[in-house]
Amino acid sequence: MKKPLIVANWKRYIEKKETAVSAAKAIARGAANVPAEFVVCPSHAHLDAVGKALSGKGVALGAQALSFKEGPMQTGEVSAAMLADLRVKYVIVGHSERRAMGEDSEAVRAQVREALAARLSPILCIGEASRDAGGEHYDALTSQLRGSLGTLSPADQKRLVIAYEPVWAIGKRAGDALDAAALEETVLYIRKVLAETMGRTAALSTPILYGGSVEEENAEALMRSGVAGFLVGHASVDPKSLIAIAKAAHGTSKR
Ligand code: PGA
Repeated sequence: MKKPLIVANWKRYIEKKETAVSAAKAIARGAANVPAEFVVCPSHAHLDAVGKALSGKGVALGAQALSFKEGPMQTGEVSAAMLADLRVKYVIVGHSERRAMGEDSEAVRAQVREALAARLSPILCIGEASRDAGGEHYDALTSQLRGSLGTLSPADQKRLVIAYEPVWAIGKRAGDALDAAALEETVLYIRKVLAETMGRTAALSTPILYGGSVEEENAEALMRSGVAGFLVGHASVDPKSLIAIAKAAHGTSKR
């Protein structure tokens, strides 16, 4: 049984560097006693300090975004090479909050490519805006997946992580998350599209995470759906709740 992969997406919840560093240290202390892999994604402004706090502690550093164009004339942007230089290992791409700011599939595909070229693992987020009985949400997932993944080499395929995050379930409470049965069905569907895109073997070994109102209360049930772990937003800011989620995920992991 593989360890669950638990990714903390701190978004812009933590404004102060000191708060980010102490939360990272608390996660590293808690992580030492839980059989799970952890990735902490602070804001770009805190990457260096959080990276130093996590160094040698077995918790990986992740970033929340990266530039998707080439060249230096991009005021305010951060490149994959800059992230790699800060010992970042993972980067979230295609998060719905960034798609809402104007990043389209082409931009997301470029970010996946840039991340992989710098040997980072892209955590590619996909998710429908709403669900209906007719199953049209599956079309949204297919086009996001196909639109965001170019042709990947076998080495690149091994680095890819998918995060399925239904947009309507983000930022709420455990009771508002997708239910476990619907998640199981969706994970199978995502794997089928991945198999069509990059072959069955690669598709079977690609970790698929769930994100959207994961809290301690629903982590165990959601984990039974065949996901490899979670992308956790609001509940990841409190180290105790992130560790509790990881403990609940462990033991039900099928990855
Ligand atoms: P949430 O956020 O856990 O607060 O719903 C998840 C995410 O957006 O990555």
